[in-house]
Parts: sequence; C-alpha cells; structure tokens
Amino acid sequence: MKDWLIKYDFEEKIDPKEIISKLNYGTHIVQIKNFPKKDLAYENFITKLGNPIIERRNNQGRSVFDVKISLQNNLFKSLANSNLRFPLHTDCSDFEKIPNCIGMLCIKPASKEQGVNSFAFLDNILDKLSDRDRLYLINKKWLFRNQNRSILNKDKHHYRICYDRVMIESFSKTDHQELEKLDQLDRIFESCKFNLKMKEGDLIIFRNDIILHGREGFDKNSDRLIKRIRFNVLK
Ligand SMILES: [Fe+2]
Repeated sequence: MKDWLIKYDFEEKIDPKEIISKLNYGTHIVQIKNFPKKDLAYENFITKLGNPIIERRNNQGRSVFDVKISLQNNLFKSLANSNLRFPLHTDCSDFEKIPNCIGMLCIKPASKEQGVNSFAFLDNILDKLSDRDRLYLINKKWLFRNQNRSILNKDKHHYRICYDRVMIESFSKTDHQELEKLDQLDRIFESCKFNLKMKEGDLIIFRNDIILHGREGFDKNSDRLIKRIRFNVLK
C-alpha cells in the first residue's frame, strides 16, 4: 500500500469537502478510480473543489487541456504535446499567481511501463537540504520568463516550491556555480522521486506548490491522453 496515495472510487459517494481538506494539507496525492471521461463532468467536479484556471489554448477555451502528442508543421506544439520525458517541475512557474493544484485524468495510458508519472514531496526534499541550502533557495531569485522569484518560499511555518529547470535556464543568466547548484538540486529531487502508473479512468489530484511532478517519455506514435485541469483549491 502506498501511504502517499488516498484512493477513492467515483462509483462510491465522494464528499468534496473531504478532498478539499486533503488538498489543503497537501500531504497526499488523491486518486479517484472510474472517473467519467467527459470534459464537462470533469470540469464540474473540479469546480466543487476550487477555481479552475481558464486558458485560451484549453478545449473550447475553458479549463480542460488535452495532454497528448500534437504536431504543427512537423514540430510538437508544446512540450506538453510531445512524447518527451519531463523532469520534476512545478506547472505555471511563469504565471503571476501559480495555481496550487493540478488534476490529471487518464483517458488512455501509454503502453507498458511508458509515460509513467513521477512525483516528489517537498517535505522529503527539505529533509535532504541543509539550513544553508534552504536559505540560498529562499533568497536567490531566478527569472521564470517575466517573474523574478525564488525556488523556495516560506511563510510562517510552511514551505512552498516553484521549480522548472527549463524555464530557469531559458530566462535566467546562470553561471557555472549556479548551474552546479541546480544539478545538485535535481539530484536531490531524483532521490525523492516515486512513480505512479495511471490506468484508464484514473483521476489524480495533487498540490502544484508542495509536490513536484514529471513523467517518463513514451513512444512517439502513442495515443496516450491525459486531461489536465489546473485550479486553486478552496480553503
Ligand atoms: Fe507539468
């Protein structure tokens, strides 16, 4: 039994308040089996938990985004529309306000052990960071496109994380020493990483600011389809 996973079944009664409370604690990933595959049902369910982020590139410009291979002029439309591996990261690191939760609904998994989702909890990461490292990560600012922010944040007692190496390296000027720091951090993230293979009809919901997520690569002809909703959970 995975103690970081709380399992529900859509065919049994689910109390949204219970899920909201789990997400506010942020100590677990919520998994709901047998979830309906229609965008509207998905959006309605997430709306009971919080406020979905509306983006123009989403389906009908609403809250659901199809994470699947999609090409334009022979190029992947975006990293999310590729078959490539994603190292552990935070979504929307360049947004002014970063949504604190993500839902991922598996419509079609990749074949075999491909496209596995991976996660790392901030608590486990913090355990491996010295006080000096923590201070460095709280004080050092990086450019995430137009947002100048630190990788770690602390308010009173709680830490929050914002990390996307591709974004940092695309927009921040980094010297050799800083790159080594990021390499060291990536190694720590990797050492805290665990995998979850989603099955058809699985919905997983997790904190974007307390848990890093990533995925393994998969076959470029795969019809893997994950429906993503980003949202801010109700308090
Ligand atoms: Fe992501």
